[in-house]
Amino acid sequence: MKLLVTGGAGFIGSNFVRYVLNTHAEDEVVVLDKLTYAGRRENLAEVAEDPRFAFIHGAIEDREAVDAAIEGCDAIVNFAAESHVDRSIEDPEAFITTDVIGTHVLLEAARAAKIGRYVQISTDEVYGSIDEGSFTESSPIDPSSPYSASKAGGDMLVQAYFRTYGLPALITRASNNYGPFHYPEKLIPLCVLNAFAGDKLPVYGDGMQVRNWLYVEDHCSGIDTVLRKGAEGEVYNIGGPDECPNIEVVKRVLELTGRDESLIEYVTDRPGHDRRYSLASDKTMALGWQAQTGFAEGLERTVQWYRDNEDWWQPIRSGEYLEYYRQQYGRELA
Ligand code: NAD
Ligand code: DAU
Repeated sequence: MKLLVTGGAGFIGSNFVRYVLNTHAEDEVVVLDKLTYAGRRENLAEVAEDPRFAFIHGAIEDREAVDAAIEGCDAIVNFAAESHVDRSIEDPEAFITTDVIGTHVLLEAARAAKIGRYVQISTDEVYGSIDEGSFTESSPIDPSSPYSASKAGGDMLVQAYFRTYGLPALITRASNNYGPFHYPEKLIPLCVLNAFAGDKLPVYGDGMQVRNWLYVEDHCSGIDTVLRKGAEGEVYNIGGPDECPNIEVVKRVLELTGRDESLIEYVTDRPGHDRRYSLASDKTMALGWQAQTGFAEGLERTVQWYRDNEDWWQPIRSGEYLEYYRQQYGRELA
């Protein structure tokens, strides 16, 4: 298969590109990526010289760029998105442009090219918050943030293109990912790097919000399973094996980095903050998928990856990131 992976220079996309090239010897991958603050060529350094890999710098809302990238591809896996909830609260516009309009442009191009398979990478956040039990694929869409609303908009368009035009499209909805190459605006890498530096770890509200943590490699194998075995027009949940309140996550990071709890700083809560996410993944498991990495093991591996890869994260903690940090947390990074 020749895959077009949009947003392939980001956190999950770059892990997926490595996963596919390592798992399927015959496959080829073309990445189309706008290289926003979150997209980095360095994330793909390991595959840069692979003859089965090609990179195109471009945006999914640019039809010409998409048409050029789609040439000869059998399938599209769309990771491209603005992905950070806090940034969507500050300024939603880019989220609408990429997550809704960009998805539409991609769908139109896929339809014109008669693509064999289209997989939309979506999120559990489209379901909103759940106090007890778990969301299934038939749970209603009820997004809370501009980010999750824009992702829900993308999902609705994908579903419409399947029903109206017969586009062979599928949607995956995953829970919170963590692991290597995670941009340090997100809770886990932010806390790991702050703990390394002996800086405060900011916890929103009471820290009792629960997330369903999924090691990124398990997400990649789940997407790959859906891509190859899923049924067209269907949605597949890909949830992590463990749930954990944020404050517990932060305490585990402190333990793994040899810091004490005096570094915890409770800060103003995120507006519209979803209390709990939880996914039932039986439908994806019925295709043969199973998460392999528990949270304790995955977090230990993640902390070790950041310990070993300072040359990856050090350049990020400058420029744009410092400005973002100052605006979001009202203080300088130590
Ligand atoms: P990320 O922010 O790390 O990466 C996004 C990538 O998309 C970057 O490489 C960026 O340059 C690229 N991009 C952004 N706008 C683009 C555009 N207009 N055209 C082309 N490329 C563009 O995000 P991530 O965490 O890797 O998430 C990837 C996908 O997975 C997103 O669709 C997100 O909604 C979804 N998702 C993420 C998680 C998670 O926990 N991170 C969980 C479930 C689903
Ligand atoms: O659930 C899947 C989603 O997970 C993806 O769709 C999103 O793209 C991804 O960013 C992630 O969203 P979250 O908002 O859950 O992730 P984040 O790492 O920003 O926050 C995780 C939890 O930690 C959340 O409850 C907010 C809290 N938090 C976050 C930050 C950045 C803090 O308490 N302090 C912080 O500084």
